[in-house]
Amino acid sequence: MIDEKKLTALLTGHTIGGTLICRERTDSTNPEICRARKVGAGHGTVAVAEEQTAGKGRRGRSWSSEPGMNLYFSMLLLPELAADKAPMLTLAAALAVARAVRELGLPAQIKWPNDVVVSARKVCGILTELFFEPDGRYYVVVGTGINVNQTVFPEEIGAAATSLRREAKGQIFDREALLARVLCLFEADYGRFLADGGFGGLRADYEAYLVNRNAHVRVEDPKGAWTGTALGIDDGGELLVRRPDGSVETVYAGEVSVRGIYGYV
Ligand code: BTN
Repeated sequence: MIDEKKLTALLTGHTIGGTLICRERTDSTNPEICRARKVGAGHGTVAVAEEQTAGKGRRGRSWSSEPGMNLYFSMLLLPELAADKAPMLTLAAALAVARAVRELGLPAQIKWPNDVVVSARKVCGILTELFFEPDGRYYVVVGTGINVNQTVFPEEIGAAATSLRREAKGQIFDREALLARVLCLFEADYGRFLADGGFGGLRADYEAYLVNRNAHVRVEDPKGAWTGTALGIDDGGELLVRRPDGSVETVYAGEVSVRGIYGYV
């Protein structure tokens, strides 16, 4: 079980994670945050669970949530920001995870927009959801799953997924320390994001970790898939992709997915 006392001590004095909801088991930490918000939870509340019985992924997929090995957590954010900028928070969360994993000595990269990969396999996925309240204000739930100490993966995700432990030759990682570090790094980046009113100040750091940069990618556009070279992101966090004719297109995360030509990245 996640050690709540240890985590609380590590996060004392922090805004993000200063209030914690620790569950042995929940359906998903994202709705756990929504339920908490309905009874008054505030900005920075974090829900963490040892096990999720209905873990959710992006695009309606499920998130396999093996108990006892990994991190499953969601942050409640109340940004003073136009709602159309809120999706960029998901990139900031990926950046925080990548920074924390690098501190552990593993070469983490980001697959746009918000998967964290090590050696081209996914170690972290992020599901960001936005909810409007009756008074017109909104809140954001950033749900993050990190494969930390899991060693065996279901066959259907095994080729594209890995864990920190697998990539570190069996080393077991301290989950509370990692979670606290991710939240701390996110808190700092969140401050920069708000101060700048966008992703501009984080862009260079994000691009330095971008596995797709200068890579040949396939854009799975509902209007028709196409291929090009990913150049980086713009200040709105959208991916810039050069078509073979030299024109550069802005690719919006909500509408398309981007894959490598030969595989997951
Ligand atoms: C994805 O890559 O598809 C996103 C996966 C997000 C998984 C996390 S685990 C914590 C939070 N609770 C959920 O049900 N999903 C997110």
